[in-house]
Amino acid sequence: MSTLVILGSARSDGNTRTFLDLVLANGPATVIDLCDHELGHYEYDMPSDRDGFAMMTTQMKSHSNLLLATPVYWYAMSGRMKVFFDRLTDLLDEGVSFKGKNVYLLSTGTKPSLPEGFEVPFRDTAKYLEMTYRGAIYACMREAGVVPDEAKRAAEDFSTQLFR
Ligand SMILES: Cc1cc2nc3c(=O)[nH]c(=O)nc-3n(C[C@H](O)[C@H](O)[C@H](O)COP(=O)(O)O)c2cc1C
Repeated sequence: MSTLVILGSARSDGNTRTFLDLVLANGPATVIDLCDHELGHYEYDMPSDRDGFAMMTTQMKSHSNLLLATPVYWYAMSGRMKVFFDRLTDLLDEGVSFKGKNVYLLSTGTKPSLPEGFEVPFRDTAKYLEMTYRGAIYACMREAGVVPDEAKRAAEDFSTQLFR
């Protein structure tokens, strides 16, 4: 299955990218780094094709897996990722459907596990858009660039699921 990654870190070569690369080692994927694209906030009555979101929509249409990769910033998804979520509203307005696609979450932080409720917007947004939420993988990265062995093993299993 083809995989599209939306990377929402504030740095392109940070912990989230390092962990993501482990997952992507076993299969092909298209990565959209939100740092590289202009992506405006959702605005009422503004066309969706005014910035990089049009390209993202095209890519989403042509992949069956959507992997959303975000660090934990202040107990929640990154601001960049939230802007991306808000822009999905444009698609509702335009009647674009992603029904049947799979959604995965990858995240990094410095706490032992994801904050309570972190997955809720991913799971519920997938459900609302009639996509299937397939679960999350998380790495606690206290030292910059260092993925703990436990998370490395989890990345292998996650990767197998993603690319099977
Ligand atoms: C603005 C900001 C807020 C953060 N808030 C949290 C947090 O609430 N919980 C946590 O576990 N780590 C937090 N961290 C640590 C990052 O989640 C962690 O270092 C992550 O691996 C960074 O990934 P990145 O290099 O892709 O940005 C925060 C870091 C930043 C820069």
